[in-house]
Amino acid sequence: MATKINSSEITPEHIYLSRRKFMVGIGALAASAAVLSACGNQFGSTASGANAQAAQPDDLKVSATIDELGDELTPFGAVTSYNNFYEFTTSKEGVAGLAQGFKSSPWQVEVGGLVNKPKTYDIDDLRTKFSQEERVYRLRCVEGWSMVIPWLGFSLSEVLKEVEPTAQAKYVRFETIYDSDQLPGQNSGWYNWPYVEGLRLDEAMNPLATMATGLYGKDLLPQNGAPFRLVVPWKYGFKSIKSIVKIELVDTMPVSLWMAAAPNEYGFYANVNPEVPHPRWSQATERRIGEFGRRDTLPFNGYGDEVAYLYEGMDLRENF
Ligand code: MTE
Repeated sequence: MATKINSSEITPEHIYLSRRKFMVGIGALAASAAVLSACGNQFGSTASGANAQAAQPDDLKVSATIDELGDELTPFGAVTSYNNFYEFTTSKEGVAGLAQGFKSSPWQVEVGGLVNKPKTYDIDDLRTKFSQEERVYRLRCVEGWSMVIPWLGFSLSEVLKEVEPTAQAKYVRFETIYDSDQLPGQNSGWYNWPYVEGLRLDEAMNPLATMATGLYGKDLLPQNGAPFRLVVPWKYGFKSIKSIVKIELVDTMPVSLWMAAAPNEYGFYANVNPEVPHPRWSQATERRIGEFGRRDTLPFNGYGDEVAYLYEGMDLRENF
């Protein structure tokens, strides 16, 4: 089981990432970003790295400094200033600024479809009803960069058990808020808004599939998907849909925003797989934000022991 630390184990006097360490991280982030753009970041970002949003608050509390494979946490400043959130902008450094002021409260999440007990949760219910624990997971973007993030959240399975999926339910479909006044990117005709993602029901029931409400011990900031997002650590980051308002149990495979936009490039499964290249670049290696050089990408992002059983007998090249 990947690192799961109960919130009861988080002691106030514990780890505060030092400012010095943070500055080292940001320096390396800027350097790595320069290399990324030099070799042509697949999505055309100039990736200048951290911006003013990167200020490190003094009240960050995490009980871990490394993940279960011994990798260091990515600094808070980088996690909150280098983002993919196309509803704001396609510029990773631009998201945090544009997302300031995004109204993530009040917020409700509707959970329904093929279930016996449909429910609408207020975000505050979700924060108090389900015990929030720190979960340190790696996030591997399909673009070839990665981070290690201490999320706060709980297993998606806890919500699903409560609504009781019927025997017909085979998949879970997630939807981001649609509000083009607040989310200027939704005025662009390039994509089918709102952002949609999906999981097979057995994937969704795996304990690693996480509903995150925070990171680094604080509520999620808008750029990271406030107030409530999915985190699926063994899949490419685009499966980890942000700012969710609707979760629906369905009997047919949902078509995600990325499947609709480029079906030859983005499949439903999107499991991290170093052996299956993206049609336009290799997936064999990745750049960990804050590090120089590239490191090997691990099958299922390193979580094979926990999730490989879900895909036994499947051709993972065909089901990419
Ligand atoms: N969710 C929504 N609604 N819109 C997005 O553009 N981008 C995805 C995912 N979730 C995205 C989204 C991609 S490509 C990645 S890599 C992760 O969010 C990035 O999460 P982060 O910005 O918190 O690191």
